[in-house]
Amino acid sequence: MLTQCRAADDDAIRDGARLLREGALVAFPTETVYGLGANALNRNAVLSIFKAKDRPCDNPLIVHIARQEDAEELCHVTDRATLLMRAFWPGPLTLLLKKKPYIPDIVTAGLDSVAVRMPSHPVAAALILAGGVPVAAPSANRSGRPSPTTAQHVMQDLNGRIPLILDGGPSNVGVESTVLDLTAGVPRILRPGGITREQIAGMIGNTEVDSAVMRPLDPDEPALSPGMRHRHYAPRGHLTLVKGSREAAAATIRALYAAQTNACVIAHTDNLPLYNGLRVVDMGRDASTAAHNLFAILRQLDDLAVAHIFAESLPEDGMGLAVMNRLARAAAFDIVEAGP
Ligand code: TXA
Ligand code: MG
Repeated sequence: MLTQCRAADDDAIRDGARLLREGALVAFPTETVYGLGANALNRNAVLSIFKAKDRPCDNPLIVHIARQEDAEELCHVTDRATLLMRAFWPGPLTLLLKKKPYIPDIVTAGLDSVAVRMPSHPVAAALILAGGVPVAAPSANRSGRPSPTTAQHVMQDLNGRIPLILDGGPSNVGVESTVLDLTAGVPRILRPGGITREQIAGMIGNTEVDSAVMRPLDPDEPALSPGMRHRHYAPRGHLTLVKGSREAAAATIRALYAAQTNACVIAHTDNLPLYNGLRVVDMGRDASTAAHNLFAILRQLDDLAVAHIFAESLPEDGMGLAVMNRLARAAAFDIVEAGP
C-alpha cells in the first residue's frame, strides 16, 4: 500500500475524513502524540489498527470525539467526569467510564469500560468532526516503539501499512494523555500524561496514582490498564535510568558510561557541563520540555544505533511523573539508585 504524507490542509483533512468513513486508517496529529485513527463503530476498521501496529488485541483503544456531548452515547458520564471535561477538555486527559453497548467490544478488548478523550489539536478536531464518527486511535507507532511526535516518525513505523498521514508538525505535549479511571471509588491515574495529578486533584480532590505507574507488574498480576503489561516506549539500545542527586547521578553515569562503548547520556540542560567529553543529548531544562523532547530523543538514539543509554531522572511530580513513567518503561525498569 502506498502511504501518502500530506500537509494537514482542508483538502487533506476532507480526504482523511472520507477514508475514515470508508473504513480505512488515517494517522493524524494530536497535541500529545500522533494517533492512528479508524471509525470506532466499524469492527473491521478497528481490527486493521491492531494489524498495522502489530498490537496485541487485548490492549484496548481510546475513543476520540470532537464535542463533549458526544461522550454521552459512548459511556455513562458521571458528575466527576463532567467537572473534568469542563476543566480539561479539549486536552490531554482520557477518562475511563462505564461503556454503553454502542461501542464494539473490539475497541475495549471486551472490558466494560471505555477510554474517551477530546483532543485539542485543531487538525484532530477537524478530522473527527468531518468524519462524523467517534475515532478509535492508539499512538501511531509500531507496537513497542516510542510514540510518534512527528509525521516523519509515523512514516518510519507505518510506511506501506496505511494510506494517509496528516502532517500537522511536531506534537506540543510530547507524551500521551493522562488515563484516569473513574469507574471505581477513588479516581485513579493509570497512565500519567499531559494533565498532571495535581491539576486533577485541584478539580475533584483525592486522586490516586496506580502503583503500577512506577514499578513492573508481576507476571500473574492483573493489569488495570492492559497497556501496562506490554513493553513500551523502548529504544533499541539498552536504557538505564539513574536516580539520585545531581552530583551522585553524574558520577554514577560517568562510571557506567566508561565501562561501555557506543554509549550516550540524556541529561538536563543545566547538567550538561557534568558530562564534558561524553556523548550527551539535552532533554531540556524542565519537565514539560523533557516531555516534549523525550520520544524524539529515543528515536534519534535509535537512528544513531546507540547501544547503551544512561538517562538522568526528574522529580516525580507535575509533568515529571509522566516523563519518569516513560523512562522507567523504556528502561524495562533498569533503575540505578546513585545515592543522595
Ligand atoms: O495521547 C494519547 O492518549 C494518544 C493520542 C493518539 O490520543 N493515544 C494513546 O493511545 O496513547 P494508546 O493506545 O497508545 O494508549 C492507550 C492506553 C493503553 O495503555 C490502554 O491499555 C489504555 O489506554 N486503555 C484504553 N482503554 C482502556 C480501558 N477500557 N481500560 C483500561 N485501560 C484502557
Ligand atoms: Mg501507545
